[in-house]
Amino acid sequence: MTRILPVTDPDAVRDAAAALRRGSLVAFPTETVYGLGADARNAEAVARIFAVKRRPAFDPLIVHLADERDLERVAASRPEGLRKLADRFWPGPLTVVVPKHPAIPDIVTAGLETVAVRIPEPEPTRRWLAACGTPVAAPSANPFGYVSPTTAAHVADQLGGELELILDGGPCPVGLESTVVTLVTNPPAILRTGGISVEAVRDVLGEVRILPPGTPASVRPDSPGQLSRHYATKTPLVILDASQVPPAGSCRVGLLGYREAPARHGYASVELLAPEGDMETAAAGLFAALRRLDALGLDLIVAEPVPERGLGLAIMDRLRRCAASSP
Ligand code: TXA
Ligand code: MG
Repeated sequence: MTRILPVTDPDAVRDAAAALRRGSLVAFPTETVYGLGADARNAEAVARIFAVKRRPAFDPLIVHLADERDLERVAASRPEGLRKLADRFWPGPLTVVVPKHPAIPDIVTAGLETVAVRIPEPEPTRRWLAACGTPVAAPSANPFGYVSPTTAAHVADQLGGELELILDGGPCPVGLESTVVTLVTNPPAILRTGGISVEAVRDVLGEVRILPPGTPASVRPDSPGQLSRHYATKTPLVILDASQVPPAGSCRVGLLGYREAPARHGYASVELLAPEGDMETAAAGLFAALRRLDALGLDLIVAEPVPERGLGLAIMDRLRRCAASSP
C-alpha cells in the first residue's frame, strides 16, 4: 500500500528520508512537477527509477539538493555563470548542467561527464532533502513519455503500486518542468525551456544559445533526454486555432483553450487555461487539464496555441511534443 503523507509533517519527512536512505524510491513535490526520488549515490536505487518509469537508460536524471553548499558533492567544478544563475534563480525552477563529481554514478548521468543539478523552491521539500543527507536523483514521477504529474493523486494514479511513499505538497505552483541550462558549452545553452523564461536567463547570462522550440530530438546533440516523444496524452492532440475548426459531427473532440474560445459549442469538453490571459496560470494548469481531457476517452484534443513569450515558449514546447507523438 502506498502511503501519501503531507510534506509539512515532520514524522513523514523523517520516514521518507529513512526510506530513501535504505534505497527505496520516494515521490516528492516541487514547485514544477512531482519528482520520483532515489539516493543519487546508490546506483541500484537509481536503476529502480528507470525500471519503474520504463525510462530508457540514455536519458540522464536531475540531482536535487537542499542547499547550494551541497553542490561540491555532485559537481567537479563551478563553471563561469553559475554564481550569477544561482544568486538569481536558486532555489527555483532552474537546472544547471555542470561537470560531474566522481561520487555520482554513471547511471544518474547516462554516462555523461556532466550532471544536471537543481535546488527546488518549496521549503518543506528542502527540509526533506536536507533530512535525506544525500543528493536526490529524480525525474518527473510519471511513466516515461506521459504528461508530468502536478498533484500527489497524479502520481498515485500511475505509479502508486510501485511506491512505498508519496510526499504530498498540494498542486505544483509552476506546473512546468525546470528550465535546463548547460554551462559546459560556450556560450551557455538552454536545453529545455521551462519554469524560468528564456528572457530571464538571457538577462542574467547575456548570450545564450537556444534551439528553436519544436526542434526534433535527432538534431539536439547535447541533450540526450530531449526526445520529441514526451508529455504525450493517449488521446491524439492537434494544435489549431479553435475558431477555425468546428468539431465534426460524430467525433468527440475536447478543447484545450487558452482564453475564451469563440466557437466552444460542439466540443465534448472544454478546458480553459487562463481566462485572464496570464501565462503563469496557464502553465500551472496545463498538465492537469491535459490529464482531465485524456481521461474522457475522446477521439481528439484540439489545443489552442498560446503566445510564445515568457512561459508561453515552454507551454508550446510541451504541446508540440504531445502533438508530435500523437497516434
Ligand atoms: O522540474 C524538473 O526538472 C523536474 C522536477 C522533478 O525537478 N524533473 C524533471 O526531470 O523534469 P526529467 O528527468 O523529466 O527531465 C530531466 C531533463 C531531461 O531533458 C534530461 O535530458 C536533462 O534534464 N538532463 C539531465 N541531465 C543532463 C545532462 N547531464 N546533460 C544534459 N541534459 C541533462
Ligand atoms: Mg520527465
